[in-house]
Amino acid sequence: MNQVYEKLQRCYESFQKKIDFKPQIALVLGSGLGDYAESIRVEAELPYQEIEEFPVSTVPGHKGRFVFGYVEDVPVVIMQGRVHYYEGYAIQDVVLPIRLMKLMGAKVLFLTNAAGGVNYDFHAGDFMLIRDQISNFVPSPLIGPNLDELGPRFCDMSEVYDKDLREIIKKTAAELGIPLQEGVYIQLTGPNFETPSEVKMCRILGADAVGMSTACEGTAANHMGMKVCGISCISNLGCGMTDQPLSHTEVQEMADRVAPLFKKLITASIVKIAEQIKDEEME
Ligand code: HPA
Repeated sequence: MNQVYEKLQRCYESFQKKIDFKPQIALVLGSGLGDYAESIRVEAELPYQEIEEFPVSTVPGHKGRFVFGYVEDVPVVIMQGRVHYYEGYAIQDVVLPIRLMKLMGAKVLFLTNAAGGVNYDFHAGDFMLIRDQISNFVPSPLIGPNLDELGPRFCDMSEVYDKDLREIIKKTAAELGIPLQEGVYIQLTGPNFETPSEVKMCRILGADAVGMSTACEGTAANHMGMKVCGISCISNLGCGMTDQPLSHTEVQEMADRVAPLFKKLITASIVKIAEQIKDEEME
């Protein structure tokens, strides 16, 4: 068997020994959102260190654990902290948690992150619904022998971010009176922020927001046939778009400031998404 798949299986066995919970929706929390996990009805927690061979995040402000519980009545698994490619992990390790959450039973993946706006119509503090992604600046997590147990060798990428889920989130935001931008997310490796020329490049390539995560996770989830949706918190405008230099502190502060609204949008969206899954299952 393939090494990547064997490791995933070992992590899954380690999870099964400790936790008896079947999530419907998997949620990945980006910067500023970490404490969302504490606001749900928590059933169980699993620190990443307790899963043998699991990649553990080294970024300040990123906790490292799975939280299992209920958003209203919806069973969810939450990643409180993710690992990034720039931490030095192989890209297959970066997406291992996503694959693991699929094995746990999650059908839907809800991705969140803090990102830099490269679209001049955006402002710091905006939310952007991810319509599509550009992931070619990091290696594809699907490189290597295909994991046939998970998905096909050459997977279609025509709708990584599910259209129905996007509609639900847009409608939810409108109902809550939360303005929502929409656009393309581009993942660069980081950990350095972009130069002004790189931000310009991202814009020319068709991106609206730039970050250091998410797209590789979207690819891995799409490979497995998960329904994916994502929202970026535009914590700052890209370097060179203002006369300010960028800092992680600034990113963190803005993400923290808009977090209450972000959480409201996520909760309401999750409830609506679960309703749609229920309707589909009854059809
Ligand atoms: N660039 C890359 N990643 C980011 C940024 C940015 O400007 N802001 C938050 N994450």
